[in-house]
Amino acid sequence: MISPRERLIVALDVSSSVEAQEIVSSLGDSVRTYKVGMQLYTAEGPQIVRELVASGKKIFLDLKYHDIPNTVAAAVREAAQLGVSMLTVHASGGTKMLQVATDAARGSRYAPQVLAVTVLTSMNAEDLKQTGVPGSLADLVLHLASLALAAGCDGVVSSAHEVRNLRARLGNAFLAVTPGVRPAGAAHGDQARVVTPAEAIAAGATHIVVGRPITGAPNPAAAVESALRDMEKAELAVGQNK
Ligand code: C5P
Repeated sequence: MISPRERLIVALDVSSSVEAQEIVSSLGDSVRTYKVGMQLYTAEGPQIVRELVASGKKIFLDLKYHDIPNTVAAAVREAAQLGVSMLTVHASGGTKMLQVATDAARGSRYAPQVLAVTVLTSMNAEDLKQTGVPGSLADLVLHLASLALAAGCDGVVSSAHEVRNLRARLGNAFLAVTPGVRPAGAAHGDQARVVTPAEAIAAGATHIVVGRPITGAPNPAAAVESALRDMEKAELAVGQNK
């Protein structure tokens, strides 16, 4: 069973190390894992990752690798060298790319977990059709998730709305990281379809990614505690949800 604190990933969607470190120090020991995505990584490079890892934080490196297998494997090895705990690849890169990514991760000293992005949560049915992909969004998510797990990925990134179906169809033996989470009572911002931390866990998520509702809160530490309490409630309700 994973503790609520282990389940929470706070997104550092800022453009400088100074801002990132301000958030991290304001949250202190209450947050163990941070997501570094393409904004902060593009602005500051690997040094911010090294600094956070050196200070004892776990890093979810969300750069969504999608390239030829050789290039992705090489990038995964570099990410592993940085000491990240989790990283993302696009499931649509295909079996070969996913296999070499997971092999590269497992063959490295720190063996980060490899998570596959199925369909971006910003995509709707119409967007999908425009890209030339036939069929429904739910079917594509399920198809790509099973492809990724068969290729050896440790889990998937998907919206909480898809997790329930993935658990029903693919079982419990994989990680499911869910963004688009809004603590109960928080402003929805630009998110139309959001879930609370408790709802995400009840649906089968193992981890939740929360950005602005925590980093932009008047009291970020209080927002963390409220998200943790909310997840505890869900765990009590659903029991041993991995
Ligand atoms: O919206 P919020 O600030 O909580 O977003 C945190 C992270 O979750 C962002 O870095 C974004 O990559 C991801 N996200 C997502 N899908 C959404 C909302 C956010 O992938 N619907």
